[in-house]
Amino acid sequence: MNKETLIIQSEDKEGLKKAAEILKKGGLVAIPTETVYGLGANALDEDAAKNIFKAKGRPQDNPLIVHISDIDQLKDLVSEIPEGAYVLMEKFWPGPLTLIMKKSDKISDVITAGLDTVAIRMPSHPVAREIIELANLPIAAPSANISGRPSPTDASHVIEDLVGRVDAIVDGGRTGVGVESTVVDISSGIPTILRPGGITEEDLLVVFPRVDIDPALKGEDENLTPKSPGQKYKHYSPNAKIKIIKGELFSMINRINHLYREYTNQGLKVGILATEQSRWSYSCDNLIVVGDRGRPETIATNLFDSLREFDKMKVDMILAEGIEEIGIGKAIMNRMEKAAGFDVENL
Ligand code: TXA
Ligand code: MG
Repeated sequence: MNKETLIIQSEDKEGLKKAAEILKKGGLVAIPTETVYGLGANALDEDAAKNIFKAKGRPQDNPLIVHISDIDQLKDLVSEIPEGAYVLMEKFWPGPLTLIMKKSDKISDVITAGLDTVAIRMPSHPVAREIIELANLPIAAPSANISGRPSPTDASHVIEDLVGRVDAIVDGGRTGVGVESTVVDISSGIPTILRPGGITEEDLLVVFPRVDIDPALKGEDENLTPKSPGQKYKHYSPNAKIKIIKGELFSMINRINHLYREYTNQGLKVGILATEQSRWSYSCDNLIVVGDRGRPETIATNLFDSLREFDKMKVDMILAEGIEEIGIGKAIMNRMEKAAGFDVENL
């Protein structure tokens, strides 16, 4: 693929109109959202949707999220709106929550990868909303990375992966949340988290007495297939191998220092993914401080960028500290464990 890719600054109003025009004509435009950048196309145009899969090298059995800017768009996209969905939409839209509902006939099997449900999200990012409004269309958009790579949290990441493969990239600077939206299946009564994300289980429990989590997410039982097809792939991966060490901070530091020496002695170039609380406990040239354990949202914001930074350092191996799995910590560990292919050592 060798397309000419237009780079549009998000402050450029004419540029945003152009982005909307490209979408209307069936083109591909990467747009910033509050979670990660998305690679958008007209969700009602099957050929445009097919081109998303080509540009990303995405497996065809992994369905896309459809983005809307107005609740009125929903009625064309889904065949029924379950009771529970209203409560969630009221409370968390616009925002990092994706709802799975029964699809309407207007949604092609290309978007849903043949499933009878469709994923819908209303982003809160002003630029994403403006482009969807200007295009006046529902926009299908997976994360704007080459499949398998860490999701893009800055326009430079999208440029790295997709220049020459898409028609335009809208640069809106860094995204905020840093991990993708929470995917919740509401099509069969009890809300079930298929992918942890920006809206936490704790947030959902404020409005629902019971919330289930897809048991396949942990990767502990190979016989369980995740209900969200995207969760079955190794993902978010930098080129280096990742090993996660989980335990008390002091024990993690000791174990990582031990492994660092061991791998370095084997001639490997080793990186360490540390936190503010541990940064002074390592002596390693390839150290990245991902954020502050006291404010885990900072870790979510920086995680994918840190993984891409390790690629630039050309490390062979990354030793990463585990993060406490509460609040946004669940989404962080889900992404890290998948990036590590579930190579996790519990101390
Ligand atoms: O924050 C986000 O959700 C970002 C921004 C761009 O909105 N998008 C994103 O899209 O992360 P993507 O394609 O990288 O991830 C979509 C996830 C995949 O795991 C996919 O399998 C799941 O949503 N999904 C989509 N449709 C589904 C459906 N009908 N049933 C179950 N899972 C579905
Ligand atoms: Mg993705």
